[in-house]
Amino acid sequence: MDIYVDSANLKEIEAAKELGLADGVTTNPTLIAKEGGSMREILGKIAKTVSGPVHAEVLNLEYAAILKEGRELAKIADNIVVKIPMLRDGLRAAKAFYEEGIPTNITLIFSPAQAILAAKAGATYVCPFLGRLDDIGHDGLLLLSQIRSILDANPDLETKIIAASIRTPGHMIELSQMGIDILTAPSKVLQQMEKHPLTDQGIAAFIEDAKKFSA
Ligand code: E4P
Repeated sequence: MDIYVDSANLKEIEAAKELGLADGVTTNPTLIAKEGGSMREILGKIAKTVSGPVHAEVLNLEYAAILKEGRELAKIADNIVVKIPMLRDGLRAAKAFYEEGIPTNITLIFSPAQAILAAKAGATYVCPFLGRLDDIGHDGLLLLSQIRSILDANPDLETKIIAASIRTPGHMIELSQMGIDILTAPSKVLQQMEKHPLTDQGIAAFIEDAKKFSA
């Protein structure tokens, strides 16, 4: 299982890397906008910071324009993955990139049917958004488990699942149990995973008791 940082912030990515939690990085236009500046420069710096895949989303939505932009993004660094929204033109572009050997992520997946199409188009990764489904009262984890079952039942579909829009440490546990290939999490969730009140209480008690004897 790989864990990616869902961020365009270099400090967050470096901090996660120190803990072995930056097997890759996912970005999107919203995350890039939070950093400000040039998308190309930000992606270049991230791609130098981590050795694993760096997912860079195209801003164009029409076939020829996606191809042009995706090829430009892929030139930024060898570890760039072209991230494409789930659209018919996006699927067509994923198929073309597959034939060119450029890795792709079909993103904004909200149904198992969309995941099947992305896998058949040759996407290297399919990217279901769990938290956004939960936000509208649907069951995001159910979607992830359906996609896992489909891919397990059809080993000819070689796409990997990246679970995105992760909101809680509980999501990380459930997704790990399901055998999801990649979990991309915001830095906040990765930090929350460290914490347990009994750990804090235990450390405090040991510090107190250590005052009662000499080393
Ligand atoms: C990752 O690839 C997605 O862009 C990201 O996880 C979306 O998360 P959000 O729903 O918290 O914006």
